[in-house]
Parts: sequence; structure tokens; C-alpha cells
Amino acid sequence: MNTAALTINHLSGMKQQGEKIAMLTCYDATFAQAMDQAGVDIILVGDSLGMVVQGRDSTVGVSVEDIAYHTQCVSQGLERTFLLADMPFGSFHNESTAMENAVILLGAGSSMVKLEGAGPMIGIVEYMTSRGAPVCGHLGLTPQSVHQLGGFKVQARDEVSARQLLQDAQAIEEAGAQMLVLECVPAALGKAVAAALDVPVIGIGAGVDCDGQVLVMHDMLGLGERAPKFVADFMQQSDTVEGAFRAYVQSVREGRFPSEEHEY
Ligand code: KIV
Repeated sequence: MNTAALTINHLSGMKQQGEKIAMLTCYDATFAQAMDQAGVDIILVGDSLGMVVQGRDSTVGVSVEDIAYHTQCVSQGLERTFLLADMPFGSFHNESTAMENAVILLGAGSSMVKLEGAGPMIGIVEYMTSRGAPVCGHLGLTPQSVHQLGGFKVQARDEVSARQLLQDAQAIEEAGAQMLVLECVPAALGKAVAAALDVPVIGIGAGVDCDGQVLVMHDMLGLGERAPKFVADFMQQSDTVEGAFRAYVQSVREGRFPSEEHEY
């Protein structure tokens, strides 16, 4: 296996060559090492840790210190995998706060930071990227807004909101973001966004035509109590956790995951 550390250039090259990108969330060094060896391309230290590690009802309440701690833990296990860290709720509401917190997360070992939303966030992305902070956007279902959205629901089902989401995605790319996570939208919209953008679009519940896929680790290991429709349990295909990670990577690479049953 090639153990050279992946960069954003490798990931962009994968998109250009039509090679699907496999991403998972992870929160500690042991699982990170297993993912690295299984060929996972990107690890996200997601603020989903608020739910799957801390036992909260939502991701609201996770702190920058929490993400920095888990980012440091994960980075100890990695040789090849690209490390992305989430900016938690309230950590990027203005330009200087966003930049200061990005510096903390990049200092903890991540190679890029992810932040949710469009609108006023576009200016913040522009501010950060023009000052050297690598940024990934996150559109569609943005879990930090769960209380505004009224629950974890599929987004942009109608034509007007789908058009708005496509425009937002293009604006985030123009602001300098080098990757986009797209969550819980109809598969046709996932395909349109991936086709419209030059940067890799990583879907979660956004259909097989995104440039890559991401799942929360606990969900794909079959540990969630009520898994959302877009989740597959990869422990069904393996006797070991590392085997489940390999099965996931292979299924994503070959375009077998997600299948129609996982799409909206
Ligand atoms: O925090 C997280 O795990 C995420 C994924 C759902 C993409 O943002």
C-alpha cells in the first residue's frame, strides 16, 4: 500500500479521474489506525462525537476543545489518511473567531476544517481561505441547525430549494472551499452538485453520484439504535472491524454503496 499522506491535491485528482473517495468519521487513535490501514481516504473528526461519544441528543454543545482533543488522538493513528476536523456550533459565527478556532484545529493535526451553512458563512469561508485556512463546506441537512430545521429531515426536496442549494454550493466553492459535504438531499441533487463543482463533493444520504461518501463510524458498524435510511451496516459483511472498514472502502470505490435503498 502507498503510505504517503494524502493531500487535497490527491483527493481532487481522484475526483478528476472518477475514482470515488471513501470517508468515515473517527474519534480515537485505535480506530483511526484501522481505517488508515483499510484504505479510508478521509477521516472526519465530526461534531457527531457529541452524540456517539458524549451521548447528547444533538451536536450542539460540542466545544472546539472537544474536537481538538479528538483530532490529536486520531492524528496519532494516521500515516496515509487525510484528516478533516469539524468546527462546532458557535465556533465560526464571525471572521476572527472562525479563524482563531481554525488555527486551533489545524494545530491539533487536521489538514482542513469543515463548517456548516451558506448565507453569511460564505463571507466567513472567503475570509478564512484567503488567509490560508483550508475549508470544507457542509450543505443540505446541517445538524447544528437541527432546532431551526425542526428535526433531522431530508432537505431541498422542491425545485426552488434545490436551485438555492446548488447556488450556495457554487458560492462556497468560489469563496475558496476545497471540498463540500452534502447531507440528506435527493440523489438527483447530489449528482447535479457534484457535476457543477470542481472540488470533491462527499455525500451522506445524497446518492451514489457524489464524488465520495461519508458515514458516521458507529452507524456503519451497526451500533446505532435506529439507523437512518442512508446507512448500511458493514459488520454484516465482515468478522472484524478493520474488515468492515475495508468492505466500506471497496463498496464506495466500486459504486455499490449507496444503493437505491439508501437514497432519497
Ligand atoms: O459530524 C459529523 O459526523 C458530520 C457527518 C455527518 C458528515 O458532519
